[in-house]
Amino acid sequence: MQEVRVFAPATVANVAVGFDILGFAIQRPGDEIVARRSTAFAGVRITAITGTGTKSLPTEVEHNTAGMAVLRLLEHLGLQHEVGIELEIHKKMPFGSGLGSSAASAAGATVAVNVLLGEPLTRESLLYFTVLGEEVADGSFHADNVAPCLVGGITLIRSNESLDIHHLPVPPSLHVAVVHPEIEILTRDARAVLSDSVSLKTAIRQLGSLASFITALYTNDLPLLSRSLQDHIIEPQRKTLITGFDAVQAAALERGALGCSISGAGPSMFALCDSGYLAQAVGQAMQAAFQQEGVDSQLYVSPINQRGVEVLSTTE
Ligand code: HSE
Repeated sequence: MQEVRVFAPATVANVAVGFDILGFAIQRPGDEIVARRSTAFAGVRITAITGTGTKSLPTEVEHNTAGMAVLRLLEHLGLQHEVGIELEIHKKMPFGSGLGSSAASAAGATVAVNVLLGEPLTRESLLYFTVLGEEVADGSFHADNVAPCLVGGITLIRSNESLDIHHLPVPPSLHVAVVHPEIEILTRDARAVLSDSVSLKTAIRQLGSLASFITALYTNDLPLLSRSLQDHIIEPQRKTLITGFDAVQAAALERGALGCSISGAGPSMFALCDSGYLAQAVGQAMQAAFQQEGVDSQLYVSPINQRGVEVLSTTE
């Protein structure tokens, strides 16, 4: 194999009830990554990064999420001094958006290189190297964007330390509206505002929400899912970073969303809905509420993406 091109989807992490341990993939937007063999050098080089606002993204391999993920993968395979890999990163989603942009580049790169090398590893076993790549972006080791991006669906992480991940059932009618307001929040900064401690009372409420959310997925009980989508810990601390948060959330719920909260570290907000039609209407209501605050936004409506990273083309 000489060249592999993949699509790596955006993801919604936390999902209101599972900070750092829950996430799901959506269909669009996403990044495209090209991995190509080179005989001119050994190791990894980033030969192109394209997309709006990408000038600030580093091309040094150790500072780039995709570059670092591939470097660690090659080291694991013992190939870093034998194989030369060129990476092209085509960013087709905003970064600092809460859509898992850095995770998508890292996940896309590891899948593309694994295919290029004849698939020595399974998709699941790419997770560790991909999280090491994403860690470059925000300094913390969590797989709630990377896992659903790699393998698709809704994923639960029992432990970020051991990367014990599990697929959760996806209710067939579930759709999501994701609204990205034109505000930039870096995950590193959004993590810095969080308190280290949680009261027992708050922990009990959050455990109830998380357990009920998972029960609702297993039983396809959307009214229970709706009652469960309450974030008692993170949302109250982060919502002030998002202009218009309360009005946008209220607009989504009023228009019929099952629940609405912050996507990942924000500023994007997501609303889960019982149909694609409703998700479109809810998304438009959320955009109108942002607009009232003078904030422009983009809307993405999608079912849950069950496939994760997809190979678009290969060249022998
Ligand atoms: N769980 C992470 C956070 C997702 O909310 O900080 C963003 O990378």
